Amino acid sequence: MAARITRSPAEAASVLKRGGLVAIPTETVYGLAANAFDEKAVARIFEAKGRPSYDPLIVHIADAAALDQLVRTVYPEARLLAEKFWPGPLTLVLPRKENVPGLVTAGLDTVGIRVPDHPLTRTLLAMLDFPLAAPSANPFGYVSPTSPAHVAEQLGERIDAILDGGVTRVGLESTIIGFPEGRATLYRYGGLESECIEALIGPLNYAAATASDPSAPGMLKKHYSPSKKVLIGDPAALAAQVDAPFAILSFRSRYKETGALEVFTLSARGDLQEAAQRLFMGLRTLDALPVKYILAEWLPDKGLGRAINDRLRRASAR
Ligand code: TXA
Ligand code: MG
Repeated sequence: MAARITRSPAEAASVLKRGGLVAIPTETVYGLAANAFDEKAVARIFEAKGRPSYDPLIVHIADAAALDQLVRTVYPEARLLAEKFWPGPLTLVLPRKENVPGLVTAGLDTVGIRVPDHPLTRTLLAMLDFPLAAPSANPFGYVSPTSPAHVAEQLGERIDAILDGGVTRVGLESTIIGFPEGRATLYRYGGLESECIEALIGPLNYAAATASDPSAPGMLKKHYSPSKKVLIGDPAALAAQVDAPFAILSFRSRYKETGALEVFTLSARGDLQEAAQRLFMGLRTLDALPVKYILAEWLPDKGLGRAINDRLRRASAR
């Protein structure tokens, strides 16, 4: 049966209390949520996504006060970050307490936690006496959903409900920070600029964000991928090289005379925030066209441009 689409947090809450799966809006992307303390419900998330059980889930909480229920140690920098950036696109990976099911954390001794910033989901979380485990609401490895329609198309038959909160505002997944050996470390570039984090707590360790070790979070070399081949570089030059129909994902320019079937411009005015918000919609739109290639260009390597480039790099990995 197809998922019920609702705008009512109360209705979503009742489905979740019964152990159901609900796609929830956040400011970053849609999540596929279940009661984090209900192992049966959490197991259904992995099944619906086709997600391997070694990939841990993020736990969503109503506010920072709920942290101490789930984690043993909150490092001083983590406390600062939570105070400044929650609710918001930041996930903190911290040593977990025993009550967090091993399935949620893929057996790790840590748990990823965040307070999402979307009015419907904040209302929903306030109605529940349990946190929500939620990965992005897409089949494993595919581009994350930024609208309820994206969720319905791919997972609509496998989940119970979709809480419709419109198109997501940030459009990129949260930035993930962990504390191996107590040292603040970037695990995944995302919706909160690393510059903002460093302005608050000083330089981050970046080693994990550039490794392709799957035990590092969100860091599978190939991920966030459309089904068409993604090539990155100068679209005009790439266009002259390819031997089959193609589309272009550009930052600002229209690339008029390249012969592209379609050009999706992320932000004509060159605004990185707008580009981030439209990135996944662009990849999905072009992926649906009768083309063999998606030619994309790098964005400026700063702020959200870094997170966008990270997603493009993974989308293009073989
Ligand atoms: O913005 C977001 O983060 C969205 C919304 C729904 O909150 N969620 C999201 O979840 O992107 P997901 O599962 O698609 O990506 C979360 C990443 C995974 O790659 C996982 O490996 C990593 O977080 N992660 C979660 N818990 C972790 C832990 N304890 N240690 C290391 N990595 C962890
Ligand atoms: Mg994901």
